[in-house]
Amino acid sequence: MLTLTGASHAALLGIGTYRASLVVPNDELVQAIDSSDEWIQQRSGIKERRWATPEETIQLMSVEASRQALDNAGIDPRQIDCVIVATISHLLQTPAIATAVAHELGTDKAAAFDISAACAGFCHAVALGSDMVRAGTAGHVLVIGVERLSDITDIKDRGTAFIFSDGAGAVVIGPSETEGIGPVVWGSDGEQFDLIRQKEDWRDVLVAETPEMPNLVMQGAAVFRWASYEMAKIAHQALDKAGVTVDDLDVFVPHQANMRIIDAMARTMKMPAHVRVARDIAQQGNSSAASIPLALHRMILDGDAKSGDTALLIAFGAGLAYAAQVVTVP
Ligand code: COA
Repeated sequence: MLTLTGASHAALLGIGTYRASLVVPNDELVQAIDSSDEWIQQRSGIKERRWATPEETIQLMSVEASRQALDNAGIDPRQIDCVIVATISHLLQTPAIATAVAHELGTDKAAAFDISAACAGFCHAVALGSDMVRAGTAGHVLVIGVERLSDITDIKDRGTAFIFSDGAGAVVIGPSETEGIGPVVWGSDGEQFDLIRQKEDWRDVLVAETPEMPNLVMQGAAVFRWASYEMAKIAHQALDKAGVTVDDLDVFVPHQANMRIIDAMARTMKMPAHVRVARDIAQQGNSSAASIPLALHRMILDGDAKSGDTALLIAFGAGLAYAAQVVTVP
């Protein structure tokens, strides 16, 4: 049997994003949830969020972000051997939206599949992509994190209405002369399966007297405590595995769940002042699988991160699933 020969190293070669176009400030939501702009900003750091129009589908946002990432990487779609889409809001359960995205982009019948790891989906997919490139199962992998969480958010639910948002981010992963994607540290705590979830499954919806969308529900305070204390440990493990310390970092891109969680993690990790911290949540809200590439790309566009910088990514969410790795900024 022939043995596959992969690349010695893998790296992020390019990044692209698509922000949903509707800008929804806090003031537009507060009446339905008996809240205020001040409360939302204080408790979450969110000033406004992006929601998609009906035309801004999961497929459209994925394709737009991917075209940018391919352009940015200088890679032709036919060089992509595998497309991985991380999402929880592609509401057609099968087929995988990745297949339609791979086709629309003009790949040469690339392997394509979706993964479900909620807010940690992008970091999971980056781990898969880099392992594939190193194993030789794919030359280049396109990883997309995309959500239309506004479709499964109850705008009358005080605990979630102001949090979730829509958008897409994509990266191209390919061979590299130096290591650009560190070892992943990942895991799950299924004992806390119920903390963030869809309220019910489609069968329950169908037998209900008044069928309603199975929207997301969340026990916010419990998630907040878990993320603030447990995730800093995971982040440290990712640094250790990559053989770096916080002093070696240029950029810290945690999942954009809540500004207070971001601040708590940075504090617990004793992040040095020179490390720029992603704070995209203020304008974007929490876009789950899209949150990390959207936040990283904003930093690149704003000049807060540059190609070659060392960045720590960490994501966590429903499951509870989490993943972290150190990467070199493309
Ligand atoms: N507007 C105004 N008041 C609200 C409110 C709202 N939208 N939601 C809750 N409150 C009130 C509560 O009734 C409570 O009032 P009380 O003290 O009089 O009982 C008080 O605010 C505190 O409620 P609590 O639920 O403890 O708020 P919090 O400080 O935990 O903030 C979240 C709520 C959702 C912002 C926060 O828990 C959070 O961000 N959690 C993590 C979310 C996350 O990381 N998700 C990851 C998904 S991947």
